[in-house]
Amino acid sequence: MNESYIFDKKQNMKRLIAPSLLACDFGNLQKDICMVNESEADYIHCDIMDGVFVPNISFGFPVLEYVKKYAEKPLDVHLMIVNPENYLQRYKEAGADILTVHWEACTHLHRVIEEIKNLGMKAGISLNPHTPVDLLTDILQDIDLVLIMSVNPGYGGQKYIERSYSKISRLRQMCNEAKPDVLIEVDGGVDLTNAGKLFNAGVNILVAGTTVFRADNPKKMISDLKKAT
Ligand code: DX5
Ligand code: ZN
Repeated sequence: MNESYIFDKKQNMKRLIAPSLLACDFGNLQKDICMVNESEADYIHCDIMDGVFVPNISFGFPVLEYVKKYAEKPLDVHLMIVNPENYLQRYKEAGADILTVHWEACTHLHRVIEEIKNLGMKAGISLNPHTPVDLLTDILQDIDLVLIMSVNPGYGGQKYIERSYSKISRLRQMCNEAKPDVLIEVDGGVDLTNAGKLFNAGVNILVAGTTVFRADNPKKMISDLKKAT
């Protein structure tokens, strides 16, 4: 098997990092995007909140378009909104490469996933901390990514929920059986104390906001997270 986006040449799982712009300095957004461009990060994680699905509002299309203009890495867009099906085309146009919707926000999830893929984006599903991974059994074959929320979505800087490790291990087992190239991403409270353990549990992509953008040396932090044991 050749090198892929999920396995390296030695068939080890790649360790990918997606800094979350939610914690960046929005007054110097271009500077922070350039930092991510120059770093070992693999994606730029963009959190979209509507004040309905989650009790917070972040940013919308104009900011996302601006991020796309300067980003040299794919945009990993995490929609924490109700009725995401109404905006899929607009997220594509704004520059999303991966588009993740919440399981809890979609009644017709299969249709939403098909539309995301038909628009040429990778399709992800995110699960809130209380949502069991087993609910993905009948859709795992159809998706590219699962985003496990390891905090309740809505805010950066929250404490990692320990139970997330066992959800990730179980999900990795399910993916190995059903579709081994599904990427597992974890989001919330990620830092150097849990990064290594998360990779070992089967995570491919770590999202990190506060840990990266509040670090004295964000580029070094991205590199350290990648190597964490
Ligand atoms: C929370 C967002 C996260 C957030 C993570 O709802 O989905 O992406 O930015 O922030 P930290 O890394 O600070 O927990
Ligand atoms: Zn997120």
